[in-house]
Amino acid sequence: MRAYQVKSKGIDGLTLVDLPQPKPGRRQVLVKVGACSLNYRDLAIVSGSYRMPMKENVIPLSDGAGEIVEIGAEVTRFKVGDKVAGNFSQRWEGGTPPGDSGGYAMGGGVDGMLAEYVLLEETGTVKLPNHYSAQEGATLPCAGLTAWNAVVEHGETKAGQVVLVQGTGGVSIFALQFARMFGAEVIATSSSDEKLAHAKKLGAAHGINYKTTPEWDKAAVEITRGGVDQVVEVGGAGTFTRSLGAIKSGGKISLIGVLTGPQGETNPMLILGKRANVQGISVGSTQMFEAMNRAISVNAMKPVIDKVFPFADVKTAFHHLQSQKHVGKVLIALG
Ligand SMILES: NC(=O)c1ccc[n+]([C@@H]2O[C@H](COP(=O)([O-])OP(=O)(O)OC[C@H]3O[C@@H](n4cnc5c(N)ncnc54)[C@H](OP(=O)(O)O)[C@@H]3O)[C@@H](O)[C@H]2O)c1
Repeated sequence: MRAYQVKSKGIDGLTLVDLPQPKPGRRQVLVKVGACSLNYRDLAIVSGSYRMPMKENVIPLSDGAGEIVEIGAEVTRFKVGDKVAGNFSQRWEGGTPPGDSGGYAMGGGVDGMLAEYVLLEETGTVKLPNHYSAQEGATLPCAGLTAWNAVVEHGETKAGQVVLVQGTGGVSIFALQFARMFGAEVIATSSSDEKLAHAKKLGAAHGINYKTTPEWDKAAVEITRGGVDQVVEVGGAGTFTRSLGAIKSGGKISLIGVLTGPQGETNPMLILGKRANVQGISVGSTQMFEAMNRAISVNAMKPVIDKVFPFADVKTAFHHLQSQKHVGKVLIALG
């Protein structure tokens, strides 16, 4: 089977290889991959800046979906023909994540989805929403589930609340959609007015350009007359203090990404003064994924797909993600 491996640092280190088609173990399923999607993390993995455990010559990408073509002897929850995706961590079925779950993250500690066939653990496999194609399903495992974990599990978003999402990348657009699904008002920030117009079409009530309005936290407080209920924080060191400024007293921050860098100065008094509820988010469990898919089905929600690249153009797809020109998800189609 054809697959890509990370052989050396940089997008050019992605190397097309021919590997034997794997055979499922007793509690594994073999999936013929129909599509994959890219996440910011995948850029970190190919560039060599990823800080979590990494398998040598790993097949990258946590996100992909396809059809089961073979099941192990003890598999009971799936059958051949089921349309599925893999959970980000192959070792976090539900509850509190086990200590080693990071080591079983797809496309990092274990092989990922950028291959014609992949093996998934039965407990790390999730059926797609009924109305989803493989391409749509491939958007869900990392960006979708992280946004769900933030907005629904930690955020416990309620109708009438205000959720601020940072930027218009994969996680943030899903967060916008889930916040709207639960009846919240959304403030989106972006570097681009054009992207803000897109976010408004998707249901954001307000847009703030963080380039032309660097004090976007004050703008959010002004819009809400007191502060937002929750910030979906993907910026990291360069945005965290402003996120604290943007929330109302007792507001929540879901700390997800560090796009501006991991280290900076934070005044703990700001957290204290705001009685802020800050939760680190690490994608989500298989059971959260199943709950998310039920909500997606009931609400007939569709993901926002920016562009689809063929399997042969994987490097171009990575360059497109790196350019940050996208809104929502960048995909790779197989087959
Ligand atoms: N903890 C977890 O479990 C978890 C899971 C998934 C992702 N993440 C992290 O979350 C972050 C986003 O991931 P992603 O895959 O959604 O990325 P992505 O699709 O590449 O999106 C990046 C977008 O972020 C926006 N952005 C960049 N700098 C910003 C800033 N200073 N303020 C506000 N927005 C900014 C830009 O949108 P505009 O062009 O509109 O400004 C950019 O297009 C990454 O750091 C990733 O590693 C963490």
